[in-house]
Amino acid sequence: MAAAASAQAVEEVRIKYLGRKGSITTLAKNTDFSKLSPDEKRDFGKQLNELKTLATEQIGAAAAAAKSSGGGAAAKKGPAVDLTLPGTGHSLGSLHPITLVQMELEDIFQGMGFMVLTGPDVETEHYNFDALNIPGDHPARDMQDTFWLKNGMLLKTHTSANQVRTLERFGAPLRAIFPGRCFRYEAMDPSHETTFYQCEGLVVDRDISVANLIAVMKALLGEIFHRDVTVRLRPGYFPFVEPGFELDLQCLLCGGEKCSTCGDGWIELIPCGLVHPRVLEFGGIDTNEYSGFAFGLGLTRLAMMKYGIHDIRRLNAGDIRFCEQFPAAV
Ligand code: PHE
Repeated sequence: MAAAASAQAVEEVRIKYLGRKGSITTLAKNTDFSKLSPDEKRDFGKQLNELKTLATEQIGAAAAAAKSSGGGAAAKKGPAVDLTLPGTGHSLGSLHPITLVQMELEDIFQGMGFMVLTGPDVETEHYNFDALNIPGDHPARDMQDTFWLKNGMLLKTHTSANQVRTLERFGAPLRAIFPGRCFRYEAMDPSHETTFYQCEGLVVDRDISVANLIAVMKALLGEIFHRDVTVRLRPGYFPFVEPGFELDLQCLLCGGEKCSTCGDGWIELIPCGLVHPRVLEFGGIDTNEYSGFAFGLGLTRLAMMKYGIHDIRRLNAGDIRFCEQFPAAV
């Protein structure tokens, strides 16, 4: 059997020993029992049975191995696969923390009926500034140090650049978020990056008020932090919203008692406001019929808070050891 290199050869071995005229099959017939004592007869019968069983098992196994491997080597060495060997691991990649938070936000907003849209990173001055009520001589432009390109375009400084694009494309009523990358000419330190992520939200419909804005923000934060949260609005100035607010979250670490993380019990989280009528007009919306609210969630900031990342520069450093600490799937 050691020389049987194929299923055919194993079968020949089987016929030779266990076939109708095989030597094991005919062993009893060819034995002269008259020469054996009763004890010897009993031993003979027992050994013959054992031999038959052994031969049947081994030939059967060799036949199966030859069939699965198509060769005789397996028949010699036993099963082709050694199931006792340790496996070769497949390492999974992991999702970037920004991606994880973005996926979570998309999920939450899709549940509230929002579209998820994106726009270009290379943007026109019109959509990034002018259409948002920030004309060329407006001091608000100074707040967003901009990477200008030679052709007069720019790297979008905020996801608000998607607002008028979207209004032009879809009209009203509208519910959408635009997660995306933003670029500003910043000196980098643990909390400033030239490249960061925001998630803009825009709702335009009939009878939209600040109450709708607060309700959506509370639902969002409740889902993200898995608990009921307390928020407050402070006045905030952005030329494309009126009134404009900074939405603060009551500190989840101290419950508003004031701690070293929050200082005064509140964490500044989401700039927002009711969409300025001029922005709606730029988007071709009838302001007698429609109003809206917008917010600009700092996606990078949220990921840092959620995962306890203390240095923003880690996020774009491309260090696999950093990314590996996050899950591969959600
Ligand atoms: N685009 C603003 C920024 O980047 C944030 C913002 C968005 C404010 C929407 C109000 C409404 O600073």
